[in-house]
Amino acid sequence: MGEKMGSLRRTAMCGNLRTENIGEEVVLMGWVQKDRNLGSIVFLDLRDTTGISQIVVDDTISEEIFRKAEKVRSEYVLAIRGKVRARQSINKDISTGEVEVLVEELKILDEAATPPIYIKDDDNVSETMRLKYRYLDLRKPKMQANLKLRAKTAKVVRDFFYENNFVEIETPMLTKPTPEGARDYLVPSRVNQGRFYALPQSPQLLKQLLMVSGMDRYYQIVKCFRDEDLRANRQPEFTQIDVEMSFVDVDDVINMNEKLLYRLFKDIKDVEIDLPIKRMTYKEAMEKYGVDKPDLRFGFEFKDISDLVKSCGFKVFTTTLENGGVVKGINVKGYADRFSRKDINSLEEFAKTYGAKGLAWIKITDEGVTSPISKFFSEDELKTILERFEGQEGDIILIIADKLSIVCDSLGNLRNEVAKRLEILSNDDYKLVWITEFPLLEFDEEENRYVAKHHPFTHPLDEDIDMLETNPELVRAKAYDIVINGDEMGGGSIRINNSDLQAKMFKALGFSEEESSNKFGFLMDAFKYGTPPHGGIAYGLDRLIMLFSDSSNIRDVIAFPKTQSATCLLTDAPTSVPNKQLEEVHINVLV
Ligand code: AMO
Ligand code: AMP
Repeated sequence: MGEKMGSLRRTAMCGNLRTENIGEEVVLMGWVQKDRNLGSIVFLDLRDTTGISQIVVDDTISEEIFRKAEKVRSEYVLAIRGKVRARQSINKDISTGEVEVLVEELKILDEAATPPIYIKDDDNVSETMRLKYRYLDLRKPKMQANLKLRAKTAKVVRDFFYENNFVEIETPMLTKPTPEGARDYLVPSRVNQGRFYALPQSPQLLKQLLMVSGMDRYYQIVKCFRDEDLRANRQPEFTQIDVEMSFVDVDDVINMNEKLLYRLFKDIKDVEIDLPIKRMTYKEAMEKYGVDKPDLRFGFEFKDISDLVKSCGFKVFTTTLENGGVVKGINVKGYADRFSRKDINSLEEFAKTYGAKGLAWIKITDEGVTSPISKFFSEDELKTILERFEGQEGDIILIIADKLSIVCDSLGNLRNEVAKRLEILSNDDYKLVWITEFPLLEFDEEENRYVAKHHPFTHPLDEDIDMLETNPELVRAKAYDIVINGDEMGGGSIRINNSDLQAKMFKALGFSEEESSNKFGFLMDAFKYGTPPHGGIAYGLDRLIMLFSDSSNIRDVIAFPKTQSATCLLTDAPTSVPNKQLEEVHINVLV
């Protein structure tokens, strides 16, 4: 049984003691990071959320206190009272390294079993252990720093929106399925047998209704739920900064959000980003980088050489072109000597995982061109190819021939991979870009119909509206994503606020009138009663925190995250439930 705090109350925090405090009496409380018993003296490193202080118990103190100090082990919870004094051997690595506290009173508030993971940032333990013992993992300084950064970011966001007359409004968690395109998490209703709520994939429709209701400017920091395949930057439940504004078009939403981004980077990272943020159309992004979220911290832009190799001697290229494909490549400028044959083979294997059939390459060295495919080209052809890539001595050019979608995917990912392997990416370099004019629709082979690329309420570009019925695939949308260092941090659009246009959109999506009315009737009804032009955006808060905290794993910025298979190792959710509970919600489990 631990001792009581009694009348002891904390007067200082472990991480805050400095030489100015020398001579002061302080009461500290926290966990023992480390204990060292030198026989006549016991050193304890005491940790709280601010850092660590060295505590000294020497045997000139009462025998009772010294014995107690000798018993102390890692992660015991202590309260100590003592005097701050200068340290004999200064520790430059920690902020309190010039002082220590000589104990006059010591209480063991709780003992601790030996923890199954080390409480230090670089413990190298498996993530399974970290998630199972999350409460211990969260004792680590880096994890605590991430959660504090998250809280600070949320505060900056709230301050900004409050100052700009946005109203924070909560929307329900038990709701009707929302059309963001992922699978819903369903919640059975007890009182309405056989019916289900869905947890929101986003508050999309509700925030639009708030514009109909005249709230004018809305935001919310809100949990969203999507039952989709998980990746390094995805969680089944994640948090959005969700925003909607009335009487706006694309530039108004973008301008307001640039101010928010400026403020976030300034307050969180002390970085002044350049405004206005660069804009790039979807078309340009796909042509130059093969992806709609290009990392602009480095070059290596795509060059199309299809026109130059149409009638060359390399069958792979000519047949690809005859079949409607393309030949594109990147010049990894100045890095020829960083890629051995073995390295190139490994890049080829990488490209193949994205569907490429091979990887052709040309190195320009002081002895001329080396390449497995140069023999297929005339001198002139080779010269024009090198010119297209602005190839110079020291460059290596990587080329993929295939159908357009595979070239984009494989070469786009290869471009990122090359930069990663070259270690030329700095995490303190922030390159922001708005990707605009996304296609409104994309064809879904599985469903054999067009589906909305963003969502069915996204407004087409005014000049493209006429093509909605004739050439739906060519219609561009008033949709925009904010991409930072190659990651999609947020996305939004201007919404349709006219029922005729909305009906055309539903038709293009292949919805019957009945289907549209079943799914979205309440929204269509609302739109009858005076709807302002409106639009908005939602950011992935978790992804922003990953960026700000330099984390490569989304789970490191969420207190209690789920695993890749959507389970919680700490609580063991999801679990089976007693039959009685199932009966109450009228559910019969088949397996
Ligand atoms: P969208 O679906 O693009 O837009 O989502 C907005 C942002 O949310 C983040 N995000 C995720 N973060 C972590 N885990 C996930 N599973 C996950 N899914 C999405 C991304 C993304 O950019 N209602 C629209 C917004 C609007 O039109 O206003 C929406 O939800 O950073
Ligand atoms: P091959 O003559 O098939 O041995 O191929 C010669 C070179 O072309 C090798 O380096 C292959 O990796 C490369 N290659 C094969 N298919 C493609 C392709 N579709 N696009 C680019 N390069 C390819």
